[in-house]
Amino acid sequence: MTVGFGIVGAGMISGLHADAIRNSTKAELVAICDLDEARARKLATDHAPDANVYTRLDDLLADPRVEVVNIVTPNHLHADAVLAAAAAGKHVLCEKPPAMSLADTDRMIDACAQAGRLFGIFVQSRLREPIQQMKRALDEGRFGRVLRADAVMKWYRSTEYYHTDAWRSDRRSGAGVTIQHAFHYIDLLQYLVGPAATVEAQMVNLAHPDVKLEDTLDARILFECGAIGTVAASTALWPGSDVRIEIYGQRGAAVMRGAAFSLWKFQDERPEDDAIRKAGDPHQATAAGSPTALASIDHQRVIDDCVDAVAEGREVVIPCTSVRPTLEMALAMYQSDRLHRPVDLPLIDEISIWQ
Ligand SMILES: NC(=O)c1ccc[n+]([C@@H]2O[C@H](COP(=O)([O-])OP(=O)(O)OC[C@H]3O[C@@H](n4cnc5c(N)ncnc54)[C@H](O)[C@@H]3O)[C@@H](O)[C@H]2O)c1
Repeated sequence: MTVGFGIVGAGMISGLHADAIRNSTKAELVAICDLDEARARKLATDHAPDANVYTRLDDLLADPRVEVVNIVTPNHLHADAVLAAAAAGKHVLCEKPPAMSLADTDRMIDACAQAGRLFGIFVQSRLREPIQQMKRALDEGRFGRVLRADAVMKWYRSTEYYHTDAWRSDRRSGAGVTIQHAFHYIDLLQYLVGPAATVEAQMVNLAHPDVKLEDTLDARILFECGAIGTVAASTALWPGSDVRIEIYGQRGAAVMRGAAFSLWKFQDERPEDDAIRKAGDPHQATAAGSPTALASIDHQRVIDDCVDAVAEGREVVIPCTSVRPTLEMALAMYQSDRLHRPVDLPLIDEISIWQ
């Protein structure tokens, strides 16, 4: 028995979703929708010839074979699609960021909850084995008091990338490096170390002068737990190198590079630590140099979990409620850059951010 999935948005990243569904033994791609029929048809031809093809979201939502909808539209269009999917009684897995505002995100969370439907977000890097190991060790207190948590994302995106679709160079549509690319790694810091108390950020455009958005972010974070952290993220740095997530505590330290550990060391070394050091895949493609150089395994984990959650009547492992604090941190970074000062959370005025 497989669960029927529909993909809404058959653009650049949709092939990864189709791959992930195809590689899952629990899911089947039964419907595809894009405003651009040719894109939807191509995705079907390449990945799921038996899938129904639609150009209207309402038609996909009326398809009884579709139980779970993957929202893969541009960032500023997620909210409308999620609200429609919830109203149609579908479970939802939405690409990151959930929306461009906390107000929309709350509406989406409420709509899915009221419909009794699951609502997960593709911040799929959380499910990489090294991150799960870090989370376990943090929960067990192995790090001691956490002192620092840093994310380093030195990536490259060409000028052509920013011109492939109009939204990709429009800040209000969610195109800047902070909300579009670094979002995953801001999320990992939030997931591992907890919500932020204060953020301070500077954003600049280093290498893409013909687009009006930040391609580079430098942010400092004071976490509620007392740890400090930084996010150094850019799409200006050719050829790009694998992301690093670094956690330093009083009694232990761990660094993930790409999807594998480059450091795992604790004062209370345990017999299992040698095996843990080998966790993850050092060769996994993690999109450092190009958006399509990305393995589908992490998306597949999100999809498999959703199928299991439907069967077991439980919450998904990455519910939107757990990603809301990440969006709040990212929005606070925009606010800080705009106001040239640190911003305390909770975020008071999100209306002004995109004005
Ligand atoms: N999780 C990740 O690692 C990851 C990686 C890349 C992109 N993304 C996210 O995936 C999403 C899509 O990114 P992309 O690069 O594929 O964008 P894209 O612009 O290439 O594709 C989006 C598609 O959505 C379609 N669309 C827009 N409105 C629609 C509607 N109402 N109904 C049906 N189709 C509609 C467009 O025609 C387009 O084909 C974004 O939210 C992005 O942030 C996530």
